[in-house]
Amino acid sequence: MVISAANMKGGVGKTTTVLSLGFCLAMTGCRVLLVDADPGGSLTAQLAEENSFPLSSFLKGKPALSEIFKPACAEENLFSIVSDRKLASIERRLLSGEKIKLFLLKKRLASLKDKFDFILVDTPPSFSGLTLNALFAADLIVIPVQPEFTVFHGLSRMIDAVRLVDRYRNNKSKYQILLAMYDRKADKRKKYLSIIEKRFSRFLFKTVIENDPNIKIASNLGEPFIRCFPESAGAVQYRLLADEILSLKD
Ligand SMILES: Nc1ncnc2c1ncn2[C@@H]1O[C@H](COP(=O)(O)OP(=O)(O)OP(=O)(O)O)[C@@H](O)[C@H]1O
Ligand SMILES: [Mg+2]
Repeated sequence: MVISAANMKGGVGKTTTVLSLGFCLAMTGCRVLLVDADPGGSLTAQLAEENSFPLSSFLKGKPALSEIFKPACAEENLFSIVSDRKLASIERRLLSGEKIKLFLLKKRLASLKDKFDFILVDTPPSFSGLTLNALFAADLIVIPVQPEFTVFHGLSRMIDAVRLVDRYRNNKSKYQILLAMYDRKADKRKKYLSIIEKRFSRFLFKTVIENDPNIKIASNLGEPFIRCFPESAGAVQYRLLADEILSLKD
C-alpha cells in the first residue's frame, strides 16, 4: 500500500507523520519503505543514515533495486529512499518538455509494491511535479491539517488536486484527513474542529495527533521522534494512527 502525505500548505506535519507512522508501522513488524519526495529533504535529514539511496537515481531507474533492501536504520524492517541535491532539477523536468511525467514515481514503485507492506511518501508544500507524482502513486492520500481559519482554503485546494488526479487516472483516489498538532487548550480551534468534523466526517481519521513539544525537540536534534520519546503522548497517538491504518488495509 502506497500512502502519500500531502498538503500544499507548509508546516502542517507531513514529514513528522511519514517519519513517525513509518517507525510505528515498522515496530508492528511491517516492512516499510520511506520515500522523501521533498527536495527540501527534512525527512532525509531526520533519517541521516548511510544505507539510503537517492530518489533522483531511483526515478531514473539507475540503482540496482537490491540496494534498497539494506535497512535504513536500527529498525530492521524500515528502509528509505532519500532526497538529494539532484531532485530539484528532476522535479522541474517532470512537468516540462513534450511529455509531462505524472506516473513516473508510480511506475518505479510498482516494482517494489509487493516487497513492502507500506510505502510512505513525503511531499513538498507545493503543487509541484513531485507532489503530483506522489498523488498519482498513492493508494491513500493522508492530508495533515490544523483546525484554524486557513484550513478550508488549504483543504479545498488539496481536494481540487485530488480531483485532477482522479480525472487523469479515471478512478477515485482515497484520501483521509489527519488532525495534526492539535492544541486542545486553544478555544478558537474548537470552532474550526467542529466545522471540519461536520463537513469532512467521512474522511477524518479517528486518531488526532496533539501538539507534543517533544516532536519539535526531536526534529531539532535531527532524530526520529518515536525513537527519542517512545512514551510521549505524540508517540502513543502515532501508534494509534498506525493501528487505524492497519485496519484500513485489511
Ligand atoms: N504534533 C506535533 N506537535 C508539536 N510539533 C509538531 C507536531 N508535528 C510536527 N511538529 C513540528 O512542526 C514543524 C513542522 O512539522 P513538519 O516538518 O512535519 O511539517 P511539514 O508539513 O512536513 O512541513 P513542510 O511543508 O515545510 O515540509 C516541525 O518543527 C515539527 O517538529
Ligand atoms: Mg515536510
